[in-house]
Amino acid sequence: MPALVLLGAQWGDEGKGKATDLLGGSVDYVVRYQGGNNAGHTVVVGDQKYALHLLPSGILSPGCTPVIGNGVVVDPAVLLSELSGLNDRGVDTSKLLISGNAHLITPYHTTVDKVTERFLGKRKIGTTGRGIGPTYADKINRVGIRVQDLYDESILEQKVEAALDFKNQILAKLYNRRAIEAGQIVEELLGYAEQIKPYVADTTLILNNAIDEGKVVLFEGGQGTLLDVDHGTYPFVTSSNPTAGGACTGAGVGPTKISRVIGILKAYTTRVGAGPFPTELFDKDGEALRTIGGERGVTTGRDRRCGWFDAVIARYATRVNGLTDFFLTKLDVLTGWEQIPVCVAYEIDGKRVEELPYSQSDFHHAKPIYEMLPGWSEDITKAKTFSDLPKNAQAYVKALEEMSGAPISAIGVGPGRTETIEINSFLS
Ligand code: IMP
Repeated sequence: MPALVLLGAQWGDEGKGKATDLLGGSVDYVVRYQGGNNAGHTVVVGDQKYALHLLPSGILSPGCTPVIGNGVVVDPAVLLSELSGLNDRGVDTSKLLISGNAHLITPYHTTVDKVTERFLGKRKIGTTGRGIGPTYADKINRVGIRVQDLYDESILEQKVEAALDFKNQILAKLYNRRAIEAGQIVEELLGYAEQIKPYVADTTLILNNAIDEGKVVLFEGGQGTLLDVDHGTYPFVTSSNPTAGGACTGAGVGPTKISRVIGILKAYTTRVGAGPFPTELFDKDGEALRTIGGERGVTTGRDRRCGWFDAVIARYATRVNGLTDFFLTKLDVLTGWEQIPVCVAYEIDGKRVEELPYSQSDFHHAKPIYEMLPGWSEDITKAKTFSDLPKNAQAYVKALEEMSGAPISAIGVGPGRTETIEINSFLS
C-alpha cells in the first residue's frame, strides 16, 4: 500500500487541509515533516471549521494516527493550546505521536525572529514571526533544543545556556534588547514536559514499520514548493524543505518507500510575505480573487497577495518534486470571469522563457506571458464528476493539466469536505 507525499505546488495555502482530509478516512498515518506553527490549514468538517497551525490535519480523522516528524519545529505552548482547543470541541487527540528528535521553538527564537525582521527593515522577509527561522538556524548550528531534552534536566540546562550565551550577546549588543535568562526558559520548558511526554515516540521506527506492514502513510508538507529553502524564491522562503525530498529527511523514511507525490495546486496563485511573484495583480481582479477566495492567512491574518495561475511555476513544482498527480483547488473561485488569463511563459529581458529561471535577478524581472482561456458563469459547487463541470471549466482544467506536466486527479469546487471531484483515486 502506498506512502504518499502531499505538498503545496506554489507558495503555500493551496488548500492542503482539504486534500488531506479527503484522504483522511483511508489513511492510517498523517505525518508532518517540516515547518512548525507557521503553517495554516483550514479544514471544514460538517458545519465546523478548524484552523490548524502545527498539528497534522489528520488529527480530525478518527482512526488516523497524526505524527509530528523529526523535521518539524515544535512550539510547546502552541502544541498544548492547539490540543486543548480540539479537546474542548470533542476531538480525540490521544493518538498523536511526536518525534523525540523534533526541535523546540522557545521564546528566544520567537524574539530573535521578530527583532531580526525589524532590523532588516525594507529588506525583511515578512516571516510569520513564529520563531521558525531562528529555530532551524540553531538546529543547523548544533545548538538546538530537542523534544527529548525535556526529559533530561541537566542536559536541558546545559543546552539552553549554550544557546543563550551567544544569542544574548546578539540581543544585547546588536539589537539593544535585554538578555534572556536561561533559568527562566528551562523552567518554562520543564513546565510542558509532563504534558507532552505521552506523545513522544520513535516515529521513524513506527513509520517504517507501518509502511512495511502495508499501512497507508501520508506525508503532509507545510508551506509550498516556492517557499522551500533550497528550491524556492530564496531568500524569501521558509527555513525548511517542503519539497518531496524533505519528507524523507523530515520523517526518516527512505525515498524508495515513497510511492506517490501529489502537488496541491490552486486554480490561481497567492503568496504571503515578501518576494517576487510574476502574476501578482494590483487591480480589481486581484481584489476579487482575494475576496471571493477568502485569501487571508490562517496563521497570521494577513491578506494574501493574489494573481493568475502560473504554469511555469506548476511545471517547476512537477520537476523538483517528481509529482505524480495534482489536486487542483478552488476552481469555484474563478466562476464569473468572462476570460481567465493563464501565464504560460515569462518574458525576461526581451526573451521568452518557458522554465523557471534559476537566477534570482532574472526571476525578479520576469514578466508573465498570458494566454486567455474562456471563463464560465455557472455555479460549479455541486459538481460531482468532471463531466458535471461546464465545458469551459473542463477546458480550463485540461489546459492547466497539459501545461503543468502531471495529471490533475482531483478538483476542489467548494470549501466543504464533500465539494471535491475525484478523477483518479490517490490510493489506487
Ligand atoms: P517563516 O516560515 O515564518 O520563516 O516565513 C518565511 C516566509 O514563508 C514568509 O514569506 C511567510 O509569509 C511564508 N510562509 C510561512 N508559512 C507559510 C504558510 O503556511 N503559507 C504561506 N506562506 C507561508
